[in-house]
Amino acid sequence: MVDGDTPLYGGLDEIKLTHGTLKLAEKMAADFWHADYARFSTGGSTHANQAIILALGQPGQKIAVSRTAHRSVLSALVLADLEPIWMSPDIDHATGFPMGISLAEVERALAEKPIAVLLTEPGYLGTMSDLAPLIAAAHAQSVPVIIDAAWGGHFGFHKDLPKHCLQLGADALITSIHKALPGYSASALLLAQGKYLNLARVEQSFETTHTTSPAGAPLASIDGVRALLQHRGQDLLSHLLKNVDEFKARVQSNFDIPIFLNTSDFPAGRFDPSKIVLRANQLGTSGVAIENELIHFGIRVEMADNDTMVFLATLADDEDDFDLLGDRLIPILKKLQGAPRESATALSWSVVPLVGTSMRNAYFANTEMVKAADAVGRISADLIAPYPPGVAVVAPGEVLTEQIVEGLAASKAAGVRIAYATDSSLATYRVIL
Ligand SMILES: Cc1ncc(COP(=O)(O)O)c(C=O)c1O
Repeated sequence: MVDGDTPLYGGLDEIKLTHGTLKLAEKMAADFWHADYARFSTGGSTHANQAIILALGQPGQKIAVSRTAHRSVLSALVLADLEPIWMSPDIDHATGFPMGISLAEVERALAEKPIAVLLTEPGYLGTMSDLAPLIAAAHAQSVPVIIDAAWGGHFGFHKDLPKHCLQLGADALITSIHKALPGYSASALLLAQGKYLNLARVEQSFETTHTTSPAGAPLASIDGVRALLQHRGQDLLSHLLKNVDEFKARVQSNFDIPIFLNTSDFPAGRFDPSKIVLRANQLGTSGVAIENELIHFGIRVEMADNDTMVFLATLADDEDDFDLLGDRLIPILKKLQGAPRESATALSWSVVPLVGTSMRNAYFANTEMVKAADAVGRISADLIAPYPPGVAVVAPGEVLTEQIVEGLAASKAAGVRIAYATDSSLATYRVIL
């Protein structure tokens, strides 16, 4: 592993970057995605989100942000000193899943004169907002739309997949090349259009927050993935979608009630058909129980909580992988099956934040640790999120309510990893003084 290290400077390119290797690769990515600007990051979508958010406005200004945003977006708001206008997703009553942000929610936020609208698309469960009207509403006020598409890197290059957000008119697209696409760990792509964004500022912010010694392998892998999509994308994505459909049909054929989210459950373009979301509650079992059984066979899933399980399939998986998963999964589901249960809306999608002080104030405040029972009503200094999906249940500066403290304890007891709390046991909470 260590021998394989190749830097950008004096590795992929000559030490003074005289060959322009990275610039050329970024230009090819910009052309492929039809963007004015592209940069390759070795710091994940985390870094790309920071870079774009730092390039948007001045300290103290407001930005409209989907509450389904990843932690990296919230951290970037602290860095940039921007105040979020939270937009809550519509929740589907049958499944309890977030369906995306409505036009009414964006219009409500636009009325508060944000400097930008920042959305997370697709959401962690593969659902999407109806983006085109949201983008049009923002552009009608010359407000740029930034899309954290960390999970949507494969969009836009196959007729059965949703379009990518630049095709729908967005001003910036951030995606992790290591999530839905087969790039190296922490490789990410930032694409932007110059109409509503100041690209010189984006470039400055990108460089301010990126390492000055980028590793070559993740950079080269982004170029490799671009070439793969450009030359074999149609073919590989067709195989992936066929494999996912066949896998779901095979597993589903053993049960009378619908156990997966399906494209047909959603309006066109509003669900990622490569996403495999199993509704454990329909089988009267829990995602965590299924996960524990799969672990015995060395199979790890992307995410499991009480009602839901998400498998991650990418264009790097072949038929044998799907066959093996089906062989293992079907007997487990039959064994664990009980009476169907109503799904509860997961804590991550149901909290309505109660702001006590700004995120930035809370981030820099003096703090103390208090027992969980005493934390209710206090202002959190921590961001706390069940992970995955990494969506904040409470952000710095928000009030710890009974719903949050009890909900987090219940999620933890159910086997969900609770991330970023100073005390991960949740016996105590870090609150501001
Ligand atoms: C929506 C979203 N944005 C950003 C990120 C951060 O991506 P990375 O791990 O590439 O830094 C994640 C990671 O899970 C994510 O889910």
